Amino acid sequence: MASYKLLLLPGDGIGPEVMGEVTRLIDWVNTSGLATIETETDLVGGCAYDAHGESVSDATMKIALEADAVMLGAVGGPKWDGVPYDKRPEAGLLRLRKDLELFANLRPAICYPALADASSLKRELVDGLDIMIVRELTGGVYFGEPKEITDLGNGQKRAVDTQVYETYEIVRIAAVAFELARKRGNLVHSAEKRNVMKTGVLWNEVVTQVHKDRYSDVKLEHILADNCAMQLVRAPKQFDVIVTDNLFGDVLSDEAAMATGSLGMLPSASLGAEDERGRRKALYEPVHGSAPDIAGKGAANPIATIASFAMALRYSFDLGEAADRIEKAIADVLDQGLRTGDIKQDGCKTVGTREMGDAIIASLKSAT
Ligand code: NAD
Ligand code: IPM
Ligand code: MN
Repeated sequence: MASYKLLLLPGDGIGPEVMGEVTRLIDWVNTSGLATIETETDLVGGCAYDAHGESVSDATMKIALEADAVMLGAVGGPKWDGVPYDKRPEAGLLRLRKDLELFANLRPAICYPALADASSLKRELVDGLDIMIVRELTGGVYFGEPKEITDLGNGQKRAVDTQVYETYEIVRIAAVAFELARKRGNLVHSAEKRNVMKTGVLWNEVVTQVHKDRYSDVKLEHILADNCAMQLVRAPKQFDVIVTDNLFGDVLSDEAAMATGSLGMLPSASLGAEDERGRRKALYEPVHGSAPDIAGKGAANPIATIASFAMALRYSFDLGEAADRIEKAIADVLDQGLRTGDIKQDGCKTVGTREMGDAIIASLKSAT
């Protein structure tokens, strides 16, 4: 039986609460004999800063680099608002993404049938929605230099962030988007702002070239990112795959989440390049953050994290069928009318994190 090493980084706020449900799914994989997943649990984010003054330690990075995959809950919170910028909880997550070279962030926005009325958009706009946002994750304005605040000495300060992209970074993310589109609806929207940004001009040029050279069988549309944001709430089902830069991808994916009912529904996979054995470094995490407003109450929706674990099974552990089963169990539990507070609906039962996890595991086991 295949054996894998999975590093668990629950993090801050609701992170440990939603990750608690994943550890029970790991037990299910192990006891069902599907694979052996060995886990190690470590600190990231504010809790790591509190423990050793860094939001991710070198020792944790070493374990992450050697693991077959990493799962992360969430980082951040008001407690760490005052810590130096490079030690902020979010810096730990950014270091993981950068040092593991996880350039491709897959953020599927799927509206489960039972949740079509839980969305802030009308049912007919979201029923059957299935979008894949492919966000570039290791470049752009998140990492470009200079990145600084200078005191101008006259009571004024100057802040600079730099958006940088090189051809190879756009080529590889475009290829991921086209490959995914071939297995889905065969349509890619490439979102940038070539009308005001040089990086947008290059992005457009390179995506066009990659399409022409290698993927002319896939339909490609170029769209300005602001129009893309509008179209996502006007008629989201027109999209199949959206490929975009780091910052636009961050914003567009939170927006797309609401079409599915809640930010608490959106999983993600962050993948690196394939090695010679066809394996990719990978980190799986919900798209949402540490939700300080509901942390500690046992009320968080664990579905985004559970679905991120399903993505880990599919992309890192060759267990695509088990991933399908988890996604089916999520759909079944929603069909049964169970809802966490964020997707609460009239006529449905509102439950906490643990009860939602219990129901998903029970549904999985009963289907086995
Ligand atoms: P957030 O995503 O934490 O929360 C936004 C809203 O969505 C809140 O009202 C929250 O209660 C709700 N929400 C989020 N996840 C939910 C879930 N699973 N179930 C139910 N409701 C949920 O965003 P924020 O409040 O802007 O950020 C809080 C902190 O999280 C910040 O420090 C931010 O930097 C960090 N953050 C971390 C990540 C990450 O770890 N990947 C992602 C986004 C934000
Ligand atoms: C996300 C988050 C992160 C980002 C933060 C916490 C660094 O918002 O994963 O969407 O901006 O990428
Ligand atoms: Mn975000």
